[in-house]
Amino acid sequence: MDKFSKLRQEYVSTGVPLEHPITIVRGKNEYLYDSEGRAYLDFTSGIGVTNLGHVNDELVSAAIEQLKKLWHICIHITNYPTYLLLAKELAESIPISGSKMAAFFNSGAEATENAAKIARQASGKPYIVSFIGGFHGRTLLALTMTGKYKPYKIGFEPLVPSVVHAPYPYCYRLPVKDGEDCTSIVLSILEQIINVSLSPDVVSAIIVEPIQGEGGFIVPPKQFLRELERLARRNNIYLVVDEVQTGYCRTGRFMAFEHYGIDPDMVTLGKAIANGLPLSAVVGRKEILGRIEPGSIGGTYGGNPVAAAVALKVIEIIKRENLCKRAEELGKIMEEKLDEMYNKYSFIGEHRGLGVMRALELVKSRETKEPAKKLTKKIIEEARRNGLLLIKAGYYSNVIRLHPPLTISEENLIKGLEILDKAMKASS
Ligand SMILES: Cc1ncc(COP(=O)(O)O)c(C=O)c1O
Repeated sequence: MDKFSKLRQEYVSTGVPLEHPITIVRGKNEYLYDSEGRAYLDFTSGIGVTNLGHVNDELVSAAIEQLKKLWHICIHITNYPTYLLLAKELAESIPISGSKMAAFFNSGAEATENAAKIARQASGKPYIVSFIGGFHGRTLLALTMTGKYKPYKIGFEPLVPSVVHAPYPYCYRLPVKDGEDCTSIVLSILEQIINVSLSPDVVSAIIVEPIQGEGGFIVPPKQFLRELERLARRNNIYLVVDEVQTGYCRTGRFMAFEHYGIDPDMVTLGKAIANGLPLSAVVGRKEILGRIEPGSIGGTYGGNPVAAAVALKVIEIIKRENLCKRAEELGKIMEEKLDEMYNKYSFIGEHRGLGVMRALELVKSRETKEPAKKLTKKIIEEARRNGLLLIKAGYYSNVIRLHPPLTISEENLIKGLEILDKAMKASS
């Protein structure tokens, strides 16, 4: 154990989880280096955050330039340019139809929490519908919307009233064969929740991840999100798409909801928005965000000048370098390699994903689909020993997720996948 790990044991709350017992002291693009000088290929991107790589030079310059000008005043006190320019940029770049507005916060949880608060206040209706297996963060309302009990909710009750969970089309694990059936079953239950268990008169919003992230990179059938949008419109319910993990080209589109051709009312952004500086956002229709009571949302640090300056540069780079297309291309390489692995290892129940958001679900047998949680952990540890950092996910902690940066070289992408392949071979 290195000296920093000892500090963690002594001084950091046991509540804060740790995937890898190493200490990272620096990074550069797809590489990380630990306190003992070992290099790792980073297929975590700090949970889908550093999409433009670690310590991106242009982002460093943007941060330093802004640090020298102004690093805090608070948007409640005065205007400052980076907050306002970023609001304009996102209003123009997020493909929701019509006029849009934005508000900034610090974490993904704050973004989802505020989207729910905004929906409640703007509609005057209390209920929020979210999904089983979904993850929206750890603050109390975000946690309530999160659709997984362990470990997130243990001992934290009472949670927030008027949040209801509906099933997500996790078709691999639902007892139906084709995607269409799976979608219609899930939607008919949702319809009953909204019309029988509740009433559209009391439901303000449905919040949904376009691909469940922590849930295990579950890609819903296209029809699901389309029908969800229709159901929301029909019942005068806001559709909030949580793009905290999926946004910023991760899936090959700027926003993952673009794969589904839908037009949500609000989106929540976080993680990759400032490539690792704390920043998050709610962006949505002007008729919703433009009628929120002054002072009822916000916070001391939300939309910090330095984080916002970096976020502006992130968008500039993404557009200039056409990184969504690059994510799509890298995704094809990943898909091919994961196909090969699927054909080699019968403990891979399914591989799935879009763009560079890819995952392997591991099972004890393809017939029973019993989750292989221990094997998942073993493979992740073996990969680390061989210089590749991965993270797990999934309803049953049996999913290996691959979150490489969009700026990774093809060579290193393939190298990382080969390390993963070897780790699977060694662990099986
Ligand atoms: C979809 C989604 N929403 C919200 C959050 C919460 O973000 P944060 O950890 O920044 O609060 C996450 C984090 O993983 C997420 O994946």
